[in-house]
Amino acid sequence: MDEMRKEVLYSRAEIQKKVKEIASRISHDYAGRELIIIGILKGAFIFMADLIRELSIPCMIDFVRAASYGAGQETSGKVVMTKDIETSIKGKDILIVEDIVDTGLTLAYLVGWLKERNPRSLKVCAFLDKRKRRKVDFEADYVGFTMDDGFVVGYGLDFNEQSRYLPEVYLVKK
Ligand code: IMP
Repeated sequence: MDEMRKEVLYSRAEIQKKVKEIASRISHDYAGRELIIIGILKGAFIFMADLIRELSIPCMIDFVRAASYGAGQETSGKVVMTKDIETSIKGKDILIVEDIVDTGLTLAYLVGWLKERNPRSLKVCAFLDKRKRRKVDFEADYVGFTMDDGFVVGYGLDFNEQSRYLPEVYLVKK
């Protein structure tokens, strides 16, 4: 099923450089603190794995699973949390890691959901940002690449569960 027409948007080298840059900012900002990184399944798993290995500070990890997209490229507009974290985040410094911010609905919802548990701080790191597509006011604290509209796959991102394994980010051609 990986026969969709697509072109490389971000190469392995560009991704690696960007991940190092973000990791260095995070390491600096959280130096001396106890950081818990929460990845949003499934899309963020590859970015998160690369990111934490570039940090120069220790961290703990956990995951949530959010479903907002059904099958296809358009959001359903409704966010459902289908897996919770397994760690207490009360009084802790939390960094949510996401693959891409599109409408902003998933992260706006998740941030509100986790803030109810009274973390010490809560920030968001997104590998990609489609800023022009926002439906709600939402800004990530750390962003890898800001991109125009368009659907991307690879580096953890899927189209109908296909293409997550690709090491580059590809723009799907219509
Ligand atoms: P949002 O709630 O609209 O911001 O959507 C966020 C989620 O939609 C991401 O975590 C992805 O799972 C998915 N998504 C948005 N844009 C893309 C894309 O271009 N490729 C793959 N998944 C996407």
